[in-house]
Amino acid sequence: LANGLARTPPMGFNNWNSTACRAEFNEAMVLGIMDIFVDQGLREAGYTYVNLDDCWAVPAPNSRDAAGNLIPDPARFPRGIKYLADYAHARGLKLGIYTSAGTKTCNTLGFSGGLGHEQQDAATFASWGVDYLKYDNCNNQGVDPVLRYTTMRDALLATGRPIVYSICEWGRSDPKVWTWGADVGNLWRTTGDISDNWTSMIGKAQANRVLSQYAGPGQWNDPDMLEVGNGGMTATEYRTHFSLWAIMAAPLLIGSDLRKATADTFSILKNADVIAVDQDPLGRQGTLVSNDGAGHVVYARTLANGDRAVALSNETTTTATIATSAAAIGIGGSSSYTLKDLWSKATSTTSGAISASVGAHATTLYRVSRAGTTTRIEAENAVFTSGS
Ligand code: GLA
Repeated sequence: LANGLARTPPMGFNNWNSTACRAEFNEAMVLGIMDIFVDQGLREAGYTYVNLDDCWAVPAPNSRDAAGNLIPDPARFPRGIKYLADYAHARGLKLGIYTSAGTKTCNTLGFSGGLGHEQQDAATFASWGVDYLKYDNCNNQGVDPVLRYTTMRDALLATGRPIVYSICEWGRSDPKVWTWGADVGNLWRTTGDISDNWTSMIGKAQANRVLSQYAGPGQWNDPDMLEVGNGGMTATEYRTHFSLWAIMAAPLLIGSDLRKATADTFSILKNADVIAVDQDPLGRQGTLVSNDGAGHVVYARTLANGDRAVALSNETTTTATIATSAAAIGIGGSSSYTLKDLWSKATSTTSGAISASVGAHATTLYRVSRAGTTTRIEAENAVFTSGS
């Protein structure tokens, strides 16, 4: 969506994967996450949006006041939503909220949705200082999705407040959301809900990685939020999860309760080299270079400075050598390349072969640069310096 927002994939937090609708989703949690974003350097790493998911409101039939405005749950959010937004803004952060393009949201407690209330709810969110809306698809009454999501797009634009617009349609209906999403939202879910296990996570990657052509600045494929740190996968699997989300230019929305996070979790989420791949300003989603059909998969992503990011991903339970080449990833024509392993930080040089021994469920993520180009620029600078 050409609203000037999400020129790189959104980064932040959403509570759903760690709390769902449980009571621990409350003001203390949200403020605690914001404090950690500031104190632990996540804000500096690029994480900005702290997003509330379903269950922030009072359940039906009392979701709305006499004037029809949504009411925040006073038990969870005694000081209201504007208090959270003000707290975020005072710290250089942003606040996100959730509702559904239906009569009710997805949770069975039955929170009022936005269908038929688009202008009023958008205005309410804007008056609270909300910066991001995730708009879900439950209880949609069979109304055409393009119409439902476009109506809320226009309602958000009419508020005059910059609000990132996240379409949560899951790629269910035809025509598929990725074929119309770019004019309607800043990102769109391409899959059903992720769970905190390998099979679910890799399935989302497999569905999302073939949709590169639809992504770009302001319009992203969204394979769902991160599970890193929730405990259902190994550290190796979480590094694969984070690597694949980065090479696919996916939103990086932390889904674990950072108040309980381990050092391992922080070290994955704060890997600046991997974040730089995700946030590369060219905004081009990585594509599949090869897939042997047996679980050995190579992805490559073109970066703004001409480098490539390459993921050698092993979806099997046996260590394997996975290989590609500089020419195959579109960066041929040089006699020498530098490979930086973005997890181990080791660098090496190669004349074009790119390979690694990759463990079970692991991913080697390299940044590949033409060493020849660097040498030439240095030589030009040397000539210029000596001649001046
Ligand atoms: C749907 C969405 C999830 C989450 C829940 C909340 O399942 O896809 O991401 O927002 O609703 O009820």
